[in-house]
Amino acid sequence: MTDISLTEKIERAAAEPQNMGEMVAADAMGTVGSTNCGDMLRLWIKFKEEKNGRRVIDRATFQSFGCQTAIAVASVATELIRGKTPEEALSLSGEELSAPLGALPPMKIHCAQLVEEALRSALDPASETISKKSSSCASPASTLSDQLNPQAGKFKINILGSTT
Ligand code: FES
Repeated sequence: MTDISLTEKIERAAAEPQNMGEMVAADAMGTVGSTNCGDMLRLWIKFKEEKNGRRVIDRATFQSFGCQTAIAVASVATELIRGKTPEEALSLSGEELSAPLGALPPMKIHCAQLVEEALRSALDPASETISKKSSSCASPASTLSDQLNPQAGKFKINILGSTT
C-alpha cells in the first residue's frame, strides 16, 4: 500500500465526509465559530446505554461552514468518538481527533480545534463556546444555516463549495 499525503487524505475525507448532516432528536448539540477564520461548525450527538449501564456516544453528525480540513477532521472525529463515554470523548485533543488524517501543519491546527471545541460545547456544560447544548436540537429551525442569519451579526460566514 502506498502512503498518501496529508493533503490527499484531507481531500478524500472532505469529498466524501462521514456523518455530515443535521441529526433529528439528538441528545446534545454544540456550535462553535473560529475567531481565526470565521468558519463555523455544529455537532450533534446521540447517546446509547450499553448493557453494563455505561452511557456512550452512539452517533455523531456535523454541519460545517468551514474549510476542507475542518470538514475532514469532523468526518474522522465523528467516527472516532463512537462508543466512547462523554468523558472519554472530552479528553481527546484536536490533535487526537484529527489523528486518522495525520499531523496537521501549524496553520491548520485551529481547524481541528474547531471540531474539539464543538465537541466540548455539546458535551461539557461548563464550556464557554458560542452556543451550548440545546434542548431544541430536534427543532427544524436548528440547522446551522437557520441560525446563521444576518441578525447574528457576529460571524463572517464562509460557505465553501456545495455540500451534498
Ligand atoms: Fe478555519 Fe479551517 S481555515 S477552520
